[in-house]
Amino acid sequence: MRILVSGGAGFIGSHTTLQLIAAGHDAVVVDDFSRSKRSVLPRLEALAGRPIEVRVVDLTDRAATDELVAGGSFDAVIHFAGLKAVGESVEKPLDYYRVNIGSTLSLLSAMGRHGVARIVFSSSATVYGADAAVPMKEDLPTSATNPYGWTKVMQEQILRDAAVADPTLRVALLRYFNPVGAHASGTIGEDPSGIPNNLMPLIAQVAVGRRDRVLIYGDDYPTPDGTGRRDYLHVEDLAAGHVAALDRIGSVAAGVSTWNLGTGTPTSVKEMLDSFSRACGHELPVEVAPRRPGDIAESYADPSLAEAELGWRATRTIDQMCADTWRWQSSNPDGYPD
Ligand code: UFG
Repeated sequence: MRILVSGGAGFIGSHTTLQLIAAGHDAVVVDDFSRSKRSVLPRLEALAGRPIEVRVVDLTDRAATDELVAGGSFDAVIHFAGLKAVGESVEKPLDYYRVNIGSTLSLLSAMGRHGVARIVFSSSATVYGADAAVPMKEDLPTSATNPYGWTKVMQEQILRDAAVADPTLRVALLRYFNPVGAHASGTIGEDPSGIPNNLMPLIAQVAVGRRDRVLIYGDDYPTPDGTGRRDYLHVEDLAAGHVAALDRIGSVAAGVSTWNLGTGTPTSVKEMLDSFSRACGHELPVEVAPRRPGDIAESYADPSLAEAELGWRATRTIDQMCADTWRWQSSNPDGYPD
C-alpha cells in the first residue's frame, strides 16, 4: 500500500515509517516540522536503505491538505500528527483544539473527496479518563481530564461518525499506553522539545547530564513501592502494531476497530529508574516530590483484543526499552541537530 504518514518525522511516526517500508509498503512522510527536526530524514533514509518521499504540509490548512491527498494516490493514512503535551494543553487549549481537531477534519474531508478509505489513528489511553479500573479494556467509557485528552476523545468520535456516514471507511483507533525506547541502531529516538513531560526522556536527559535530577512525583500511591505504575511499551513494538492494524483494516475489518496497544504489565517509577541505572551504568540523582496534579496511581492495558484480532503482542522488556533509550541518548546527547 502507499501510505500517507502524518507526523512521520516524529518519535512514533519515524519508527513506524521504517517498519512500513520494511514490510513492503510505500510510506510518504508528511510533517510541518513544528515539533520535529528535518535532520531525522537522512537517518531514516540510511536505515531504510532508500530515499523517502517527504511533504511539508500544515494539515490544518484545508486547501494544502486537499492538494496533498488529491495528487498522492494513497491507499491509507496513518495519522500521528498533533500536539501532545498535557500541561501545555491546559495553558493553550485553543491551540490544541485547532491543531488536533483541525488536522483530523481536513484529512478526513480530503480522504472522502479523493477516495482514500482507510485510516489508522494515534489515540491514547488518556481517553479512559481518571477513574478507569485496571487492566483497561476497550469497552470502557471514554472521558478526559485535560484539553489534550479531550482532543483524543473528540477525534475518536469524529472518526466514528465519519464511518457511520461513509460505510466504505475503515478506521483503526489505536490507544497507546506509554511508548518509550528507540531504534536499535541508536540513530533515531525520542527528542522532545523543551523540558520533557514524560518520565523516560526525563530520565535519559538526567543520565546523560543535561538535567540535574529526576523528580519522583509522589511515593505515597497505593502501589507496591508507592510510586505510579504505567504500561511502558517499546516504540518498535508499537510501530509493529500499526503495520498489523493497517493489514487488518485493509483486509478483514470493516467500520471502526479499537485496539489497546500496551504490554499489560505495569512498571513503577522506581523500577524504571533501577532498570535505567543498569543500562547506563550509574545511579541517577533522584528526589521525591509531591504528586503531579492529574496523575493516577496505575494505568495498564488489557491487550488481549489486539492479540486476538491483530496477532500482535508487545515482546520487548523494560531492560531493552532502557538499553535502547540509553543507546540513542548517549550517542545523541542533545537530540537531533538543528
Ligand atoms: N513521573 C515522575 N517524574 C517525572 C515524570 C513522570 O515521577 O518527571 C511519573 C508520573 O507521575 C507517572 C509516571 O512517571 O507515574 C509516568 O509519567 P509520564 O508523564 O511519562 O506518563 P503519563 O502516564 O502520566 O502520561 C501518559 C502520556 C500522556 C497521556 C497520559 C494518560 O504521556 O500523553 O499518559 O494516558 F495523556
